[in-house]
Amino acid sequence: MAYKYPNRIPFYKFLLQSSAIAKNPIPYHRNWFDTVGDSFAVKSPLYGHVILSRDANLAKHVFQKKHKKYHKSKIQSRFLSKYVGYGLLTSNGTYWLTQRRLIQPAFHKKKIEKLVAIIDKAIREDVETIQTNKTVDLYAIMNVLAFKVVAKSLFNYSAKAETLKRLQDIIEQLQVFIVKEIRQPHKKIWYKLKGEIHYHMKLVKESRTIIETIITERRQSTATHDDLLDMLLNATYEDGSHMTNEQLIDEILILFVAGHETTANALTFTLTLLAKHPETLLKVKSEVQNLSCSTPLEALSGLQYTKQCINESLRLYPPAWITDRVNIEDDTIEDYHLKKGTMIGISIYEMHRNSKYWKDPDDFKPERFKENMKTYAQYYMPFGAGPRLCIGNSFAIYEMTLALKHIIERFDISTSVGAIKCNPLITLKPVDVTMTFITRN
Ligand code: HEM
Repeated sequence: MAYKYPNRIPFYKFLLQSSAIAKNPIPYHRNWFDTVGDSFAVKSPLYGHVILSRDANLAKHVFQKKHKKYHKSKIQSRFLSKYVGYGLLTSNGTYWLTQRRLIQPAFHKKKIEKLVAIIDKAIREDVETIQTNKTVDLYAIMNVLAFKVVAKSLFNYSAKAETLKRLQDIIEQLQVFIVKEIRQPHKKIWYKLKGEIHYHMKLVKESRTIIETIITERRQSTATHDDLLDMLLNATYEDGSHMTNEQLIDEILILFVAGHETTANALTFTLTLLAKHPETLLKVKSEVQNLSCSTPLEALSGLQYTKQCINESLRLYPPAWITDRVNIEDDTIEDYHLKKGTMIGISIYEMHRNSKYWKDPDDFKPERFKENMKTYAQYYMPFGAGPRLCIGNSFAIYEMTLALKHIIERFDISTSVGAIKCNPLITLKPVDVTMTFITRN
């Protein structure tokens, strides 16, 4: 059977615009989708056919229906894992499945509900430190908050503040460098000559040593901490064995990387959208103020409209804005017949703004999520889909809902930001977002 790909964009067009595309690919993606169709292909001399799609059926096919035929590309399984470890996010095949089965129970909704007290405490402590009545960099604040929440959920209160701060610095430096390496692979030799690769590999070593020390202390402790580390240490493979220290370090680093920046971005976008939509903000405020609950878990079930706002923010600004897969054998998707090794990028960002699926796709309308989420599941994928669905999705929703609750309960918020700007790196990052938190009398 002859191979058949979606409509092609000539490679030279891509090449001519490559440096502008590297800076911000989103407008180019939008233009090509609008002119060529919901999926298009570029034939690169280096990588062969590369497909980009905003088609929900194609996404379901690779994420769900035929997921066994699709692996993560080298970008995730090699580049990322070199710095953040070979674990859930970056592995493939049997190793991934074994790890997912092992770790999944720790992220089960019921288990996460037990963590809610830790999450809530970390948020409350952090919200108390927010500087008020002056304009501040919102992303910086949300970044610290999200890091603390993951750190305290993992290690409860057994790691020192300065240790966590150092870990945060390292992980952030690594993320910046990973983006540099992925976006400009041709400069790799230059990075090597300048000693940048060596420097960052030293940081990797330092971060692994920090985590190993925490694990060793915990193994020696007889107390229970009811945190993720306890759950990971106790997780048992089918043959009765447990993860080695190296595996634990890999998975912990991955949880930091996958879990903190995504949530920080989402919280920044959501608060900005709320500040820019006073009527919606008023509804959230009223929901928060009228809550009658005694525990954080009860609060979570009472904040339905707040969750709708989060869902709508994740639709417009999905932090995991794009992901990829490569087919490990030839495959047929609807009219296309793809050769083994074809790289497919799924633009979650463009799927969420595809007018085929959404009315007024570029507008912020939390009301659209009033209906059962199942109505949207076919084309709403902020946490991915299928067996590799984000393991931390309930964790993230709990965390974001509680963070909004505590912030809105305490402060009035305002922003002078006009159009929201974002930078699509590994995650979709908000740019130049400032906010004023005003104390209420
Ligand atoms: C708003 C916040 C978050 C968003 C938007 C998000 C999004 C995603 C998406 C789209 C994927 C699937 C990627 C793919 O299929 O290629 C994913 C995977 C993953 N996420 Fe999240 N995530 C968030 C928060 C979290 C948190 C809080 C954690 C952990 C504490 C976490 C841990 C992971 C892990 C470990 C994976 C890999 C799962 C696997 O492949 O088995 N994420 N995330």
